[in-house]
Amino acid sequence: MGRWQRQILDWLKVAVSQGLMIALLIGAARLSIVPSGNVAAIVAAQAIGAAAIGLLLRLRLIWLPVQLLLPVGLVYGGAAPAWIYLLAFAAIALVSWNAPSEQVPLYLTNRKTREALARLVTESGASSFVDLGCGTGSVLASLKRSHPRLAVAGVETAPLVFALAWLRLLPLRGRGVASVAYRSLWKEDLSRYDIVYCFLSPAPMAKLHAKATSEMKPGALFVSNSFKVPDVEPERTIELGDGRQTGLHLYRPGGV
Ligand SMILES: C[S@@+](CC[C@H](N)C(=O)[O-])C[C@H]1O[C@@H](n2cnc3c(N)ncnc32)[C@H](O)[C@@H]1O
Repeated sequence: MGRWQRQILDWLKVAVSQGLMIALLIGAARLSIVPSGNVAAIVAAQAIGAAAIGLLLRLRLIWLPVQLLLPVGLVYGGAAPAWIYLLAFAAIALVSWNAPSEQVPLYLTNRKTREALARLVTESGASSFVDLGCGTGSVLASLKRSHPRLAVAGVETAPLVFALAWLRLLPLRGRGVASVAYRSLWKEDLSRYDIVYCFLSPAPMAKLHAKATSEMKPGALFVSNSFKVPDVEPERTIELGDGRQTGLHLYRPGGV
């Protein structure tokens, strides 16, 4: 199942579990099982019940906060001070700054994929690695821990996400090169790296591969998590068999 279909399915599961719980509560109120005057108790029951139904429907855990906060927000939203909304808006803007222009949302490389990348670094003998759009820096930090001599670099243009990555790599700076720059991936010189990694979206792949082809050195690996370059066969795809059905697509745009 594709990423967007999964998102839609998840939202449907949220709607079904919230709807089912509303129906259950209405039924219970009619039978006088729940006191209809106690709004806080009803909201709590709705939130917890919908979350439980969501889990039964195998809704991913990442949706738990949505399930719990949705009824609270709908009922008590008007009581919250205006600055809360401003703060929430600012946080969303700082995380998704570049999403409309780049068509790349924030989602993170999972543990299984980070482990596969570590094996790839060992197997290829790479000494430098860049994560284009490094998110919170989790890939860079885990590679730096498993391969202290590997020079790791990341570029990121979402301000809050960049700040998190920068802080995350701070304790690892003493162990050789570990840098995160607030810079667009389109401005990064790819000729310096043995492995160029990206986890973006289908939108930039053709243009990014063209950039990689003109800049990357012979033998260097271009690794795309999940998204293939259109009309270019990968040299190899590493299937991880995880929940997301991640595939790491390997290319050598600079030749062998
Ligand atoms: C799907 S996330 C992947 C994060 C990280 N690489 C990982 O795998 O965990 C893509 C990231 O690319 C960043 N991004 C999108 N366009 C970018 C650009 N032009 N330059 C730098 N970063 C960009 C986004 O802000 C987001 O953090």
